[in-house]
Amino acid sequence: MARIAIVGVGAIGGAIAGLLEMAGGHEVTLCTRRPLVQLGVALPSGTVIVRAHNVTVPKDAKPVEWVMVATKTYDVESAAKWLPALCAQDAPIAVLQNGVEHRERFAPYVEQARVLPVVIDCPTERSADGVVHMRGAARMRVEATPLGRNFAALFAGSSVDVEPVGDFVTAAWKKLCLNSVGALNALTLKPVGVLRDENLSKLAIAMVAECIAVGRAEGAQLSDSLGEEILAHYRGQPPDAGNSLLADRVAGKRMEIDARNGAIVRKGEKHGIPTPLNRMAVALLDVQQPRVH
Ligand SMILES: NC(=O)c1ccc[n+]([C@@H]2O[C@H](COP(=O)([O-])OP(=O)(O)OC[C@H]3O[C@@H](n4cnc5c(N)ncnc54)[C@H](OP(=O)(O)O)[C@@H]3O)[C@@H](O)[C@H]2O)c1
Repeated sequence: MARIAIVGVGAIGGAIAGLLEMAGGHEVTLCTRRPLVQLGVALPSGTVIVRAHNVTVPKDAKPVEWVMVATKTYDVESAAKWLPALCAQDAPIAVLQNGVEHRERFAPYVEQARVLPVVIDCPTERSADGVVHMRGAARMRVEATPLGRNFAALFAGSSVDVEPVGDFVTAAWKKLCLNSVGALNALTLKPVGVLRDENLSKLAIAMVAECIAVGRAEGAQLSDSLGEEILAHYRGQPPDAGNSLLADRVAGKRMEIDARNGAIVRKGEKHGIPTPLNRMAVALLDVQQPRVH
C-alpha cells in the first residue's frame, strides 16, 4: 500500500488511476485543474470507478510516497508547482510522458535521482473529464533500478505489464523512432493509411533513419531495419487510425512536437548529426501551434 499522487488526470493519468485501483490498497490523490466529481476508467477487462481524493490547488496537497506526472510534456512547468507539497518527504517522481528528455524536463525542479522516466504504451482517450477509455493492453518500461522495481511493484495485481529493463535508453529511443513518423499524419492531416503512399513511406523511413542515427549516438541499440519495421507496424493498423499529434492539430490544441521530433533535432545538434527532415517537420508544425496570448 502506498500514498500516491497523480498530477494530470487526462487519458494516461486516468488510465494509471484505473490500474492502481485495480491493483488495490493504495491511497490515491488526483491533482487536477478542475474539480473531478468522478473518475470512471474503461479498461479492456471492464470499467473501474476510482476511489481517490481530488485536489485542485497545490496548497491543498499533502505529502505522498510517490508522485506520477502524466501531463503533456509542455505542461511540466505548471505541473511542477505541485511538487513542493507532494514531495515534502522526498517522494520519487515517475514521469509518464513521451520523448527521451524526462529528466531534463524536470531538472529545474527536482534532483535527478528522484526522477523515474517511464515509457508507456497505452492507447487511451479521455472523452470528457473523468471518462477514460483504454483501447488496448498497457505496457510500461522503467529502468531496472531499485526505484524502477518499486514503481513496478505498485501495479502488482493490475493488468498492466511493467517491465524494469536493463537498457532503458534503447526502449525510450525505439518509442521515439515510432513516434517520429506521427508528424507526417499531423502535417498531411491524414490518418495512418497515408503511410501506404510510396513517397510518404520513403519519407517516413528517412525520418526514422535520422532518429536511429541520433539515438545510437545517445547509446541506444537500434537496428538498421527499424524504419521498415515501423512502417510495417503502421501499415498493419486500420487506415483510419489516428495519433495524438494529428488529433491535437485537428482539435486546434497544442502538439507535443518539441518533445518528439524537436528532441531528435536537439540531440542531433549535440552530436553533430544532421536531422533536416525532423527539423522541417518541427518548423512546419510549430507554425500551426495555437498561439497563447
Ligand atoms: N493518450 C495516449 O494514448 C498516450 C500513450 C502513450 C503516451 N502518452 C503520453 O502521455 C502524456 C500524457 O498524455 P495524455 O494523452 O494523457 O494527455 P491529456 O489527455 O491531455 O492529459 C493531460 C492532463 O494533464 C492535465 N494538466 C496539465 N497541466 C496540469 C497541472 N498544472 N495540474 C494538473 N493537471 C494538469 C490536463 O488538464 P486539463 O484537463 O485541464 O487540460 C490533462 O487532464 C503525453 O506525454 C503523451 O504523449 C499518451
